[in-house]
Amino acid sequence: MAETDWNTRPVDLGGVVYPYHYGVDCLDRIVDELGAMGADRFFVVTDDHVLALHGERLLSGLGAHAPVEVLSLPPGDGMKALPNLAAHVEHVIAAGASRRSVVVAFGGGVPGNLAGVVASLLFRGVRLVHVPTTTVAAMDSVISLKQAINSSRGKNHIGTYRAPEAVYLDVRLLATLPDKQLRSGLCEATKNCLAIRPDSIPEMRRRLAAGNLAAPETLVWLLEESLTAKTAVTRRDPYEQGSGLVLEYGHTVGHAVEMCDQRLRGAEGLSHGEAVMLGMLAAARISRTRGGLDDASVTVHEELAQALGAPTRVPERISVEQVMDVVRVDNKRGYLPVSGEEAAMVLLREHGVPYGTPDLPLTAVPLEIVKEAVTDLMPGDAR
Ligand SMILES: NC(=O)c1ccc[n+]([C@@H]2O[C@H](COP(=O)([O-])OP(=O)(O)OC[C@H]3O[C@@H](n4cnc5c(N)ncnc54)[C@H](O)[C@@H]3O)[C@@H](O)[C@H]2O)c1
Repeated sequence: MAETDWNTRPVDLGGVVYPYHYGVDCLDRIVDELGAMGADRFFVVTDDHVLALHGERLLSGLGAHAPVEVLSLPPGDGMKALPNLAAHVEHVIAAGASRRSVVVAFGGGVPGNLAGVVASLLFRGVRLVHVPTTTVAAMDSVISLKQAINSSRGKNHIGTYRAPEAVYLDVRLLATLPDKQLRSGLCEATKNCLAIRPDSIPEMRRRLAAGNLAAPETLVWLLEESLTAKTAVTRRDPYEQGSGLVLEYGHTVGHAVEMCDQRLRGAEGLSHGEAVMLGMLAAARISRTRGGLDDASVTVHEELAQALGAPTRVPERISVEQVMDVVRVDNKRGYLPVSGEEAAMVLLREHGVPYGTPDLPLTAVPLEIVKEAVTDLMPGDAR
């Protein structure tokens, strides 16, 4: 298929700048660009599913330039574990890695994060490139310096900050994503619009209402929006520990619902982005109780969730108490001194304007108020 376009945008994360190249049907060009890096070896970190779906063209193309070693594991967040990190690092060293080698992260945020940690540890840092294949990776995780794997006790406990040399996206690779995975990154893109770029909300509504979320032109628009929104924030706060915390909009209740749902349904449960969308519905309600967002703005949240096909109610069999147990230990507590009866949350005065200060957009919210919002989002008979 002919390449239809090729675009490059700089990603500026507080002075660390790398190019993000993207287009539709541009995998051959991506291979050429990687081939021009002068690598002595490519180490492709991926998962078995992505490898089977899209690996052949990338691997055979790269193989024309340098030896290729594939490090693939079964898909899922369980891949981001210390034993896998150790095995990958030992494997690449045994296979002859040098400082001229390039680690290629090929897949979603999971292989992307594992590859990021491998690249930053190997010889104290070798070149990393991302070839994302999910909307989460393309629109979120590759626009970040954060690279992390999980400990046996929790998510993203072990990690580093590392910039890639470049990101290369062929939007066509996203066409094979199941709806739930497609939605996940689009929910995060919607979050960026609501919390950072309100001027884009009308166009976002128009595009989502038109349906066909997988259309390349829709995905390219959402990608460009994500790049603009995320870098507007991370340029000032590349480590996402101050003003960048606005990116956590929807994550307090969202993460809690996600954890409860994963315990019940595992991989069958909500995607991360869908859970964040639900979390935004809760945060919008709480913002309204503070005299911030008005009814119309809360309705915009609901409409966007519906247009994305994202659930707008907490899944069955999860109780308000279970959600609140996780909210109580939310990891944003460390950024804002809150009492045992409060949660630190991102709330909006209006779309694009968080409460708090520019350097710390967090608000202490009484748990009773959070509970009311969660209760309002329970399925009909559980309210
Ligand atoms: N700042 C950051 O670094 C950052 C930001 C956001 C998310 N993350 C991390 O990203 C991870 C989630 O990323 P994800 O949602 O991409 O998960 P993932 O990498 O597990 O991919 C989800 C599923 O989609 C499949 N898949 C990938 N590409 C596909 C394609 N083109 N067609 C069909 N199926 C495909 C995978 O095999 C997998 O089963 C989490 O671990 C999260 O912590 C990191």
